[in-house]
Formats: sequence, C-alpha cells, structure tokens
Amino acid sequence: MSSKKRRALLICHSRTGNSLRLCEKTAEILREGGVEAKIIRIRPAFGIPYPGWLFLSLFPTMKFPIKQIGEDMRGFDLALLFLPKWTMANPVVNKFISRATFKFPPTGVIVSYGGWRGESFLHSVKASLWMRGIKVLGGILVKRSEKDQEEGKIREFLGSVLPDAFPKRP
Ligand SMILES: Cc1cc2nc3c(=O)[nH]c(=O)nc-3n(C[C@H](O)[C@H](O)[C@H](O)COP(=O)(O)O)c2cc1C
Repeated sequence: MSSKKRRALLICHSRTGNSLRLCEKTAEILREGGVEAKIIRIRPAFGIPYPGWLFLSLFPTMKFPIKQIGEDMRGFDLALLFLPKWTMANPVVNKFISRATFKFPPTGVIVSYGGWRGESFLHSVKASLWMRGIKVLGGILVKRSEKDQEEGKIREFLGSVLPDAFPKRP
C-alpha cells in the first residue's frame, strides 16, 4: 500500500444539523482509518424561512446564492458531499456544484432525509455531478430518524469507496 496519506474533502450543507452530524462522524471514522479529512461547509448567502426553502426546492434546477468558500479545495483524493434531501432539489447545493471552479476528485454522496422519495433525489444529485464530468463513487440515503444505524451505514459506504482503508469485517 502507498505510504502517502490520503486526503478526503468533506463538503457539507446542513440546515438543521442532521447532515452535519453524518459529516462529522464520517470525518472521525476516516481519521481513525488513517485518512486525512477536511470539512468545508456550504452556506446560503442569507437565511430564509422554511416555506421559502420549500417553495424553491420544488424547482429541480433552482440555485440559491451561497457564501464564498475561501478554502483551497484542490489536492484531495476523494470528496464526499453531505446534504439534506429537499423536495425536488437543494438550491444551495445546486449553486455550489454549478459554480465549483476546482476539479472535483472522485466523489461520493451522502443524503440525510425524512424518509420520502430519497432514491430519485439521490439519483438527481449524482446526475448533476456526472454532467460536470465528475466521477461518482456512489451514494447513500440516511434516514434522520434512524440514528442508531448511521455509523454502520457510513462504515459500509466507506468500505465500498476506500476498501483498503476500511476492509469488510468478517
Ligand atoms: C425544504 C425542505 C424540503 C424537504 N423535503 C423532503 C422530502 O421531500 N423528503 C424527505 O424525506 N425529507 C424532506 N425534508 C426533510 C429533510 O431532508 C431532513 O429533515 C434532513 O434530515 C435535514 O437535514 P439537515 O438537518 O442536514 O438540514 C425536507 C426538508 C426541507 C427543509
């Protein structure tokens, strides 16, 4: 195995904390496995009330202004995108994906959701990455009410994207 420490960029949008919890747990597990993990947050340029988000999220290509991310996002071997499922689209993440000027490394997607229609949403996020020429490593849906299963799901997913660092347990 290469002695060079691998670097993972964890990109997170979270309004009520569920995606952020998954992101922080993932960072912890990656670091335990000897992988460097850096978290960056995608934040809307300004907040709006829930009904406003709900309305905007009905439009699949909607984009919402985001705060500048001053950090260098180059030089990572892997990216993991954490976001909540919002109706048809997450306009905050749409904006981030559409305006990213750095070259994404191979990317995995982790979606927190309430339990409704997650598959089609996950697929649309992956498709928007594919359309930008980004290699998509796969994705998972994690129900916000199933906290006891979060860690197991994250470990299983990391096992599929980084099998040498996270081999399957017998
Ligand atoms: C505008 C909006 C739309 C949502 N639409 C859905 C939905 O269609 N299906 C679903 O399962 N959950 C939906 N949710 C619930 C979130 O996906 C869920 O609460 C998630 O865990 C929030 O993640 P966060 O805490 O990182 O913001 C929606 C939440 C918001 C704010």
